[in-house]
Amino acid sequence: MTSTLLTNIGELTTHDPAGAEVLHQAALVVEGARVAWVGHLADAPAADAQVDLAGRAVVPGFVDSHSHLVFAGDRAEEFAARMAGQAYAAGGIRTTVAATRGASDEQLTARVGSLVAEMRGQGTTTVEIKSGYGLSVHDEARSLAVARQFTEETTFLGAHVVPEGTAVEDYVALVTGPMLEAAAPHARWIDVFCEEGAFDGDQARTVLEAGRAAGLLPRLHANQLTAGPGVCLAAELGLHAVDHCTHLSAADVDALRDSGTIATLLPGVEFSTRQPYPDARALLDAGVRVAIASDCNPGSCFTSSIPFCIALAVREMGMTPAEALRAATATGAAALGRDDVGVLAPGKRADLVVLDAPSHVHLAYRPGTPIVAQTWVGGRP
Ligand code: NIG
Ligand code: FE
Repeated sequence: MTSTLLTNIGELTTHDPAGAEVLHQAALVVEGARVAWVGHLADAPAADAQVDLAGRAVVPGFVDSHSHLVFAGDRAEEFAARMAGQAYAAGGIRTTVAATRGASDEQLTARVGSLVAEMRGQGTTTVEIKSGYGLSVHDEARSLAVARQFTEETTFLGAHVVPEGTAVEDYVALVTGPMLEAAAPHARWIDVFCEEGAFDGDQARTVLEAGRAAGLLPRLHANQLTAGPGVCLAAELGLHAVDHCTHLSAADVDALRDSGTIATLLPGVEFSTRQPYPDARALLDAGVRVAIASDCNPGSCFTSSIPFCIALAVREMGMTPAEALRAATATGAAALGRDDVGVLAPGKRADLVVLDAPSHVHLAYRPGTPIVAQTWVGGRP
């Protein structure tokens, strides 16, 4: 196996609980797909090859634990109407369902490929991708098969909204029956949009329990538009993470803290729907674990950029740049039940980002600026 020494790293964020969180004047050795050594420049071992990073900062590759990349078309007009005062509603999802059903597998694959490439260019090295714009047995299964070509972290979101002309009870029976059976071989996770206009708490529980019985890991969209029952349900079921968490009661915050369920915040959604941002500062101060992710989708938030989400988390949700970076790396990994990514330490995957900047602070300090110089995935730039 060849080894490469990344040398002259001005600032290296490791998130290594067993070592220094951040090192200055650092170096890192990659061997195959893994990190072999991390430490101070002066102590660096020899390697087969060497890359001089000239004082740039290195951070773990971003773990985007929430995206909806399998879709066709876009909803730019809906966005423009929203910016003119219209409210975001779950019903817009059906527009994308119609476009997605009309697209070929090849068209969907090409679209996901270009969005994943966009993400890579902005430092994302692990991405979760959901279905949810098919809403039929065939279209949900093929959406997941397309997603699987790009990531192991695939999520069955048949319970996104109820398709036009179907009774909700009948649709829940379909999602938990034949659709789950067709989707399960292509999925690791199961998700439900628990919200007014989508699925209530009881329906969400039914879907998640059926998914769990089929061997999938449950996660949830909850409390995005209203303070519904989803967050408490997620805590009760002991989920790895519950996503959105925009409208929280004091009981929701207590439930998150006590259960250890991660609150995955998606600040690009608040930006793109003109909703109030969730109070990440209050969650962190209450002892809740917070991740951030893009939620990249054509309706509520069409950004693939984790640096943009980090900037929003810092500017709008009260996180420090270091907290926002951790939320988009190590805690994002934990939201996916992963400990091999999001951290740069010996034995972890060599997924990392070289910034064209001297420190991670520049991710928030230079919003909208392309400061990702290189993205390394599995030890390769
Ligand atoms: O996470 N909230 C539900 N699903 C997506 C939005 C989907 C859409 O509007 O197309 C979300 O925001
Ligand atoms: Fe989402």
